Amino acid sequence: MNAVYYNSEIDDDARRAQLYEGQLIVFSRRPSTIALCEFARQMSEEAFAPHDPREAQHHMPVEQYVEILAELKPKFIHHPKCKELIAAILEDVGCELENTYFDVPRLRAVTSDAYLTSGLGYAFKPHRDSWYSTPMCQLNWWLPIYEITPENTMAFDLNYWDRPIENSSSEFNHQDWQQTGRKDALKLVKKDTRRQSEALEPLQLEPQLRLITERGGLTIFSAAHLHSTVANTSGSTRFSIDFRTVNLADLSARNGAPNIDSACKGTTIHDYLRGTDRSPVPRPIRDLYENSTLKHLSGLVSVSN
Ligand SMILES: [Fe+2]
Repeated sequence: MNAVYYNSEIDDDARRAQLYEGQLIVFSRRPSTIALCEFARQMSEEAFAPHDPREAQHHMPVEQYVEILAELKPKFIHHPKCKELIAAILEDVGCELENTYFDVPRLRAVTSDAYLTSGLGYAFKPHRDSWYSTPMCQLNWWLPIYEITPENTMAFDLNYWDRPIENSSSEFNHQDWQQTGRKDALKLVKKDTRRQSEALEPLQLEPQLRLITERGGLTIFSAAHLHSTVANTSGSTRFSIDFRTVNLADLSARNGAPNIDSACKGTTIHDYLRGTDRSPVPRPIRDLYENSTLKHLSGLVSVSN
């Protein structure tokens, strides 16, 4: 059973436990989330001026659109202000910044009617982030920058929270992906040929959950949830922000969602920065994830070096 908690006031320890059980957490927009979204909105509007970013796809060839995104995305992702704004959100919803680590935020532009579906506009097929070398305690945070509709949001495929899927994660290594896959995104305009972690069996995606929050509304979910980008048929581009967090105690204890079907190599452990001073995850814990192949399928935890 997966429940959705709205504006829950439980503390962060209890909330993480719920998230690891597959529950979804939603917060109404609040000043801290609005601040991050407004910052992204302002940067996007400057980049696509004189067009509204949601409508820009109708006014230019896709190659020009990709050029704009290629400049906008890294500018947003690595802007120092984003880190401050994310830390403010985490603190606002009760995370202990000392023990909470986050990665840089992504800015997603999901165009309508398959205008751009590859490279920088890649529409993620149903996947678990845990198929992409994350620790099992990773949480995903997602916010739409403009209003969304069921036709241009993201979807949770709840049939598979506790149902293993045959998938290609065993061929995925985060370190290889960072060296090649991400850089190649710039070149991929018409077709995406990068090897992604994906399901290798037909999926039964209905019924599917699409949470429609207001702009700046926040959805938090476990990296183990199967989720996907909805094929956008709304007529306008969806802009959203997502970032990820891990908690130090959970990393150390290897707490998190059960791993029922991920077999990837490599680790995202180097990507997270501490909420207080932006320092990396402490070396002993990085070593724990770096030097081991995690195999705790079906709840059986064993770590092999
Ligand atoms: Fe994802």
